[in-house]
Amino acid sequence: MTPQEWLNKLSAIEERFILTLKEKKSVDFIKESFIGRKGELTLLLRELGVFSVEEKKKLGQKGNELKLKILSYIEENLDEFCGFKKYSFDADITLPYKRLNYSNIHPLTLTLNRIIDSFEKLGFSIELGPLVEEDYYNFEALNFSPHHPARDMQDTFYIDMKDDTGKNYLLRTHTSPVQIRSMLKYKPPLKIISPGKVFRSEAVDATHSFVFNQIEGFYVDKNVSMSDLKWTLECFIKDLFGSSAKIRFSPSYFPFVEPGAQVEVSCVFCGGKDKNCRICRGKGWIEMLGAGVIHPNVLKNCKYNPEEYSGFAFGAGIERFTMLLFGIDDMRVLYENDLRVLRQVF
Ligand code: FA5
Repeated sequence: MTPQEWLNKLSAIEERFILTLKEKKSVDFIKESFIGRKGELTLLLRELGVFSVEEKKKLGQKGNELKLKILSYIEENLDEFCGFKKYSFDADITLPYKRLNYSNIHPLTLTLNRIIDSFEKLGFSIELGPLVEEDYYNFEALNFSPHHPARDMQDTFYIDMKDDTGKNYLLRTHTSPVQIRSMLKYKPPLKIISPGKVFRSEAVDATHSFVFNQIEGFYVDKNVSMSDLKWTLECFIKDLFGSSAKIRFSPSYFPFVEPGAQVEVSCVFCGGKDKNCRICRGKGWIEMLGAGVIHPNVLKNCKYNPEEYSGFAFGAGIERFTMLLFGIDDMRVLYENDLRVLRQVF
């Protein structure tokens, strides 16, 4: 075959291509006839092998021009399923699909984001604190007595390093030290939430971990009372779990609040109707957070006048909220990196 004969064949193919357009042949037909594995143009381009390098270059350029013309026609004329057609030309779409290894937001992060969203709607802003804390912020300024059992080595992880007061640094046991750090840093009014990791020397079981996440919330202003606390927590719980969710307060002791309370949330799974409910264990209520009105000694330690200012504070465990939101009955699955858990789409 001479180069001219090859060019003649190319022109003939182009004419046939134009004819198929006039005849409104389908895009699939055009693709298969001209540039498919046994398409006319594909076969003609294969014949270029017989020519010299120089001739191949010239003829190949012409051949590729026609190929591009055909491809751009196909590209422009794919129907509304174009993306689908383009990528699945050789695929049998009736086969079961292969699940991809996609990533997911961890349920703890998802829960924390939802909680933060709720409090942001109520006007709270975020403040973070250090994980390695001083005794002063974690205990002393929060009105813990020098021999309070929480300070015990059995409950607190200490670090073999002393702070300026000669006391050992420790891994914070709760997020409450952020109350002190914020009050020392800012003037009232304050409306702050503070999420983060906390550490306790505790045995691990289905509802306890030695490292877990808490979120602290506190509001200090003139005339802040227990009723503001109740209203805020009720708005938050209803926002998170829906309008039928309820909360109830029962008295509890924390040295940094007076009065102090444990706050329980009505079981969103059984509504208190299932004696065998695996989440509330038939009680109908689940203990979710500690809360109360900030103790005057704490305000004094932060140079706030308790005659002028008052505030409320609360601290919640993020793991417990995650369990309740997603119906998880063992906290440990949140840390085990089991892909069967992490791959679930929430
Ligand atoms: C506190 O940590 C107080 N700082 C909370 C507080 C803040 C009270 C402000 C008053 C005012 P408590 O030890 O109860 O309180 O912990 C708070 C929440 O953390 C608990 O309700 C629970 O949801 C979670 N929690 C406690 N211990 C663990 C644990 N070992 N594993 C996972 N979550 C835990």
